[in-house]
Amino acid sequence: MKPSLIEIPQIGNSEMGFLSFIEEKNDLPFPIKRVYWTYNAPSSIIRGGHAHKTLEQLIFAVSGVINISFEGLDGEITSFKLDKPNVGVYVPKLFWRDIQFSENAVLLCLASQEYIEDDYIRDFGEFKKLSNCI
Ligand code: TYD
Repeated sequence: MKPSLIEIPQIGNSEMGFLSFIEEKNDLPFPIKRVYWTYNAPSSIIRGGHAHKTLEQLIFAVSGVINISFEGLDGEITSFKLDKPNVGVYVPKLFWRDIQFSENAVLLCLASQEYIEDDYIRDFGEFKKLSNCI
């Protein structure tokens, strides 16, 4: 599995505004155990800088624009520009990510597990070493 875009339904129109929704059973490749959101990140900094041993995520820019790039253990880099509130990126385990926010961007993440610091790989060298195991 690789990071890939997932489009979810959008109801409404430009006069009234729009509504999007996710149902675990129909729209997600994993059960939701946690929801978090990140905001007021300066556009001059890069967040992320880690991979997860087992966590799966679905990440949206519910406001603004978020540029997110992933590197897999095979060294392939995939980048996405999230700029629609109803299009998210599914992130499988073991992808290094770097995330850059526009002003006022809000990142919403649906996650397959509770927060477990031990699930993080925060050292890029340690992450790359895992490629010997695949
Ligand atoms: P981190 O996942 O490293 O943020 P980002 O990838 O956006 O740079 O998390 C930042 C800090 O917040 C880190 O100390 C762990 C903590 N944190 C929690 O306590 N619970 C959570 O659900 C998340 C996502 C982070």
